[in-house]
Amino acid sequence: MSMIDGNSTETKSFARRAAHLNPAGVRPAREDAISFDSGHADPHVLPDLTEEAKAALSVHRSETLQYAPRPGLPALRSWIAAYMNDDGATGVSPENILVVNGAKHGLELVCRLLLDEGDSIVVTSPTYFTAIPIFKSFGVSFIQIPQDADGLDVDELAHALESNKSEGRRQPKFIYDVPDFHNPSGVTMSRERREALIALSAKYGIFIVEDSPYRKVRFEGTSQPSLKSLDNSGLVLTLGTFSKLLAPGLRIGWIAGPQDILNRIVQLKSDGGSCPLTQRLIVNFGNAGRFNAHIQKVQEVYRTHRDRMLDAFRRQIPEFSTAVPHGGYYLWLTLPKSVDGDTLAELAEREGVTVIAGSKFFADHNTIPPRSGSPKNYIRVAYSHATLEQIDEGVQRINRAFRSMQNHEVKANS
Ligand SMILES: Cc1ncc(COP(=O)(O)O)c(C=O)c1O
Repeated sequence: MSMIDGNSTETKSFARRAAHLNPAGVRPAREDAISFDSGHADPHVLPDLTEEAKAALSVHRSETLQYAPRPGLPALRSWIAAYMNDDGATGVSPENILVVNGAKHGLELVCRLLLDEGDSIVVTSPTYFTAIPIFKSFGVSFIQIPQDADGLDVDELAHALESNKSEGRRQPKFIYDVPDFHNPSGVTMSRERREALIALSAKYGIFIVEDSPYRKVRFEGTSQPSLKSLDNSGLVLTLGTFSKLLAPGLRIGWIAGPQDILNRIVQLKSDGGSCPLTQRLIVNFGNAGRFNAHIQKVQEVYRTHRDRMLDAFRRQIPEFSTAVPHGGYYLWLTLPKSVDGDTLAELAEREGVTVIAGSKFFADHNTIPPRSGSPKNYIRVAYSHATLEQIDEGVQRINRAFRSMQNHEVKANS
């Protein structure tokens, strides 16, 4: 997506947190563009909720058309608590669940509770690009930690925290990570790393924000324990969401954490309660016993999408490399050294396929750890939304953009 000029506005009355905001709008992609940029769902995977909606608007009308209880519908909080306990956590009760308008909303609320201007937080390098402007709006600095095939490098984090301590600097307020099918890298953190991370957070008393929307979107292998399930110190705040489990348009997610933390956060929630109608749809869907079969469908469809996209890249652009993600929505492609991901994303858009330049996934370009490589050296492509035919065609369009850069380079050198 590229920016267009907006009307110029005097910015001197804006808040400091708004100073860096870009006034340009987003230019709509061309009409026949294939979208590999966003983590939208495949429309064929979206569940038919007609029956759930009918019941929600008749039997439950006085609940669904009323303000909801601010922490969320009791039935949904119970369902989520049971879901997390089934997933290996112990003793999660409905009081440990706060229903929010999606995981991003949950993240912003956690930031509002914990962050002051001038604080620092830990993020992976790269990290979830939508979280970056949320963090920046709180005026924080970033401690960026590289990842390898086992996830966030906990030794390197331990080293950074130790240096902070010995040099008398304040410790970061929290560690933000996507431990399952990381966005964008696709990496899943190993059990050993999870245990080491939990031990480190307990040693220094630093919160962990575990953002795990793709945990159930697994194509092969078995799940590692969630960070929540390993935590004995009450320092893990888990963000959950129905966006990837059911439908992003429902805008329902949750924060799981100690009750006293959630009791505080709920006072910062200024939306009058998350929408009771969509909460009720989810409860009805779960009570109808449809959830497990739906998750299976999600896994099957996105596995096919992933395989198709991997195959298309391997055949058409073997110069790009990627680790094979065992779940999630994305491929994180490493480009040949000479290829600038920002330029490639722009050229690809002109060819009619939208991708996200890797540079957008690095929180602070001035402090990137050397092992993360150059931020210009990657692009992220989503296989979730496009059809199989569009996946083939989209990779062809990226290939045309890539070859045009190579031809340009050859001409420039001759
Ligand atoms: C890491 C991460 N967190 C959260 C979300 C989803 O947020 P929400 O529940 O607000 O739709 C996504 C979706 O793209 C994501 O990749």
